[in-house]
Amino acid sequence: MKKSEFVWMNEGLVPLEQAAVSINDRGFLYGDGFFETLRAEDGRPQFLQEHLARLRASAITFRIPFPDSFPWADRLSQLLAANGLEHGLARVKILLSRGAAPALGLPAAARPTLVIWAQPYTPPGPEEYARGWALATFPERRTTFTGKHKSLNYLFYLAARQYALDRGADEALILEADGLVSEGAAASLVYARDGGFYTPQAPSALPGVTLEVLGRGLAQRGLGLTCLPTTLSEIAQAEGLWLTNSLMGIMPVSSLDGRVLPISPATSLLQECLNLEAQSPPGN
Ligand SMILES: Cc1ncc(COP(=O)(O)O)c(C=O)c1O
Repeated sequence: MKKSEFVWMNEGLVPLEQAAVSINDRGFLYGDGFFETLRAEDGRPQFLQEHLARLRASAITFRIPFPDSFPWADRLSQLLAANGLEHGLARVKILLSRGAAPALGLPAAARPTLVIWAQPYTPPGPEEYARGWALATFPERRTTFTGKHKSLNYLFYLAARQYALDRGADEALILEADGLVSEGAAASLVYARDGGFYTPQAPSALPGVTLEVLGRGLAQRGLGLTCLPTTLSEIAQAEGLWLTNSLMGIMPVSSLDGRVLPISPATSLLQECLNLEAQSPPGN
């Protein structure tokens, strides 16, 4: 018999089949809310404080009350245990929407909706990491300031990813309004040049948690991760290019718009930096 799945809905755990959000919820009506996707290993959510800080900052910017007193760590443990995810890998999604409130604008009086959902996660296999992912540049530039927030309005990124898939690629490369390189559809970008590591300086890209953590890990080794305005041709000439996100970690890029890119041996160094940070206690 299939085991029941449980979801955290506002005040408690409910079976997945009973977890429902009202059609009045502004998350459904307008994408008026934010989410976080975390990786949990053996029941331990990784970089929880960093994810919560980003969620909180977005909620405050858009006037959604943030549940500051919510016992996040305890509730996540409870949820993972209820779903039999104390061992192995899990994908944890935290969704916070404004809830139901009339009128346009950003009404602050609403009672937000909080949903936390944990499912087993199967990462790409070792061959996939060794081979790397193909990138395709999405021709529509992202022109909204909401790119800085992990908003429930994910349509742009879904369309970008589909554009890449339709071309036999794995991920889309997103451009800023001025045509400079921004990020992936669901990942940040890191590249190597002249022995250093860089990430595109992109004013409307999501501040990636993995990127932040990687920056810390590299700094511990006396290395930098420098933010630099980056053109498409600079990316195409990089000595190594990687996609980073909370679930899959560090994925090398093997081609950009059909042009082959070198798979850099520095992947293992980046992965080590991330692993090291994942093992250090929160707040360190
Ligand atoms: C648009 C976008 N950029 C970057 C990232 C990487 O962010 P993080 O490292 O916080 O998972 C994501 C994650 O899904 C994303 O959706």
